[in-house]
Amino acid sequence: MTPEKLMDLAKQAMKQAYAPYSGYYVGAALLCEDGSVYQGCNIENASYSPTNCAERTAFFKAVYDGHRKFKAIAVCGGKGGEITDAFYPCGVCRQVMREFCDDDFMIYVILPGGSFESYTLAQLLPSGFTL
Ligand code: THU
Repeated sequence: MTPEKLMDLAKQAMKQAYAPYSGYYVGAALLCEDGSVYQGCNIENASYSPTNCAERTAFFKAVYDGHRKFKAIAVCGGKGGEITDAFYPCGVCRQVMREFCDDDFMIYVILPGGSFESYTLAQLLPSGFTL
């Protein structure tokens, strides 16, 4: 699975977003250690705080199916379904990644225009909390 293919799957996942409040459609594609991929979208709520980000949707689907080890995630999003902004994972999603992923877990953030930035989890969440 190349980063490019994972990014294509994240773009596809954007279409499933439920985002009537912000209008931002976000998609994620999560690569498991065994090579399987789980897609996620953001799911908003009238009460706002129950909103689930695309990254966590992908993680929770995968964890429910028994996956516990992950290699990488690609994330993209924007207004009205176009990639208009760089969607860096929020703090809550970074903490969910920390629960299941090692320092070298890769995070690909897709930029408007089609290029992307790569980070490790250690870069985006230094000194993350674990038990
Ligand atoms: N959102 C994500 O799905 N992932 C991120 O990395 C950041 C934000 C969503 C939450 C909300 O539905 C919308 O983007 C605007 O904040």
